[in-house]
Amino acid sequence: MKIFVDSSNLEEIKTASSWYLCEGVTTNPSSLGKLGKDPYKTVKAICQFIRGPVSMQVTSIDTDEMIREGKKIAQIAKNIVVKVASTRHGLNAIYELSKSGIKVNATNLFTPIQALVAARNGASYVSCWMGRSDDIYMDSIELVRDTKEIFQVYKVKTQIIAASIKNTRQIVEIAKVGVDIATIPFDVIEKMTQHPMTDMTFEGFLKDWKNNPALKNSSR
Ligand code: E4P
Repeated sequence: MKIFVDSSNLEEIKTASSWYLCEGVTTNPSSLGKLGKDPYKTVKAICQFIRGPVSMQVTSIDTDEMIREGKKIAQIAKNIVVKVASTRHGLNAIYELSKSGIKVNATNLFTPIQALVAARNGASYVSCWMGRSDDIYMDSIELVRDTKEIFQVYKVKTQIIAASIKNTRQIVEIAKVGVDIATIPFDVIEKMTQHPMTDMTFEGFLKDWKNNPALKNSSR
């Protein structure tokens, strides 16, 4: 399972990279908007920092505008991926952008059928939103599991991204399903890299080690 960082914050991306937990990045209009900076410059800086795919979403509503904006985003860097919401207009844009050789991440997906339709239209990635599904008592693991099963039946090459992740439990479940990619917000990545029992047990080892009288006079 590849780990992407679900953030527009370059410092978070740099830290996750230092833990070898950043094989790609997904930004979105909310995370870019909240930064309050030029979104294109922000995404360009991210593309320059990591080699992996970096997704940036079109914010237009109708097909022609989505295509125009998607082609503009595609110019940012070689490792850019154009994110398109899987609305009806979005599906047309996914088809046209993919046909022109642009990698597309079909997003804002909540059913396996939406994922299959986006894949049929040429999407390189489909982002299945877990947290927002669980928020309204849908079964996010079923969403990912069924999407994976359908893609296996038809040998679909489109990669499945588990998105809208809120906790480490979801990561365990999607890893069991075998999704291709998990895009994880930084606060959850931090939780993946630390556990209170790890810290506590290691501190206990160090205490016992240092209390060894044989080591009291040792220079080691
Ligand atoms: C990823 O591509 C999505 O934009 C992101 O995971 C959405 O997460 P949210 O539900 O926290 O907004």
